[in-house]
Amino acid sequence: MNLFPTPILAIESSCDETSASVLRGPDILSNIVSSQVALHEKWGGVVPEAAARAHVEAVLPVIEEALEASGMKLSDLGAIAVTNRPGLIGALSVGVTAAKALSFALEVPLIGIHHLEGHICSAAIPGELPFPHTCLVVSGGHTELVRVDGPGSYEIVGQTRDDAAGEAFDKAARLLGLGYPGGYAIQQAALSGDPKRYSLPRGLSGDTVDFSFSGLKTAVLRLVEKEGPSIDVADAAASLQEAIVSVLVERALLACRQLNSEALTLVGGVAANVALRERLRAACDREGLLFHTPPLSLCTDNAAMIGLAASFRLARGERDGFDLEPMANSPLPSR
Ligand code: KG4
Ligand code: ZN
Repeated sequence: MNLFPTPILAIESSCDETSASVLRGPDILSNIVSSQVALHEKWGGVVPEAAARAHVEAVLPVIEEALEASGMKLSDLGAIAVTNRPGLIGALSVGVTAAKALSFALEVPLIGIHHLEGHICSAAIPGELPFPHTCLVVSGGHTELVRVDGPGSYEIVGQTRDDAAGEAFDKAARLLGLGYPGGYAIQQAALSGDPKRYSLPRGLSGDTVDFSFSGLKTAVLRLVEKEGPSIDVADAAASLQEAIVSVLVERALLACRQLNSEALTLVGGVAANVALRERLRAACDREGLLFHTPPLSLCTDNAAMIGLAASFRLARGERDGFDLEPMANSPLPSR
């Protein structure tokens, strides 16, 4: 499994984080993330126009900071990588435009990366994970079980039929008055809560590797209406986290069994959830599966994961032209 040998600058701007990273082979020399959480907090969610404007302001300072922190100069770079799909179109355009300008000026290759491929590659440890393996991608926009046949070769085997797991955390947190984004807030509130206190639905039943989280949001709304001010927010947060984590663990293990996988990886923003990480690790130990999840800094959106995905593709000789376009929707690449 080869990686591109010369330093790569990677840029990520698909949603509400502007990020730039410099990598050399598997070494992440810098990974700077400028978050727009404070900007979108007052609206309780990401406002696309505001996100695009904030990316315009942040992109050059973030790139400069990533270069400085890596000890590299522009002239050291051997390629420019950028998330070009899927995501908010205005937000993606900012990163893609900056990447094209740098690639043109420095006369180095340009490569566009699918955001989900970036998340999947955040768990890549060259030479250490057997292929094929199963990857659970859980973020604000995605809940997918993916068979990873090798770098660049993926097949989605299970997915959510409605809301993503991160969306379920975020929507429930808003209903419980815990603010935005909700995942971390729920995790912290759940620390002192009783996960058995409130009974919440688990979505689809039976031997499926698909998910459904929209019923959970409705159930939390009903619970808030029924309990009124006497609701125990810590118990509600713990019960919600338990409902999401137990389904994710159960389906991920089922997918591993169905695919005969020897290893499972856990990636995406929701992979930062400590209860999920611990439960999946323990379940994999019990089942004799290898388990790997990246450090927290590589779980939520960041450019280093885009650089890792790019490194595999660049090493195989893949390049994009200056006609590279941002795309709001796009399927995960499969070879
Ligand atoms: O991957 P990501 O940064 O952005 C997308 O690609 O969507 O994921 C963001 C999601 C949000 O829904 C956020 O609430 C969730 O990840 N998240 C968490 C935690 N930290 C972030 N969910 C549960 N527990 C956490 N500790
Ligand atoms: Zn993401």
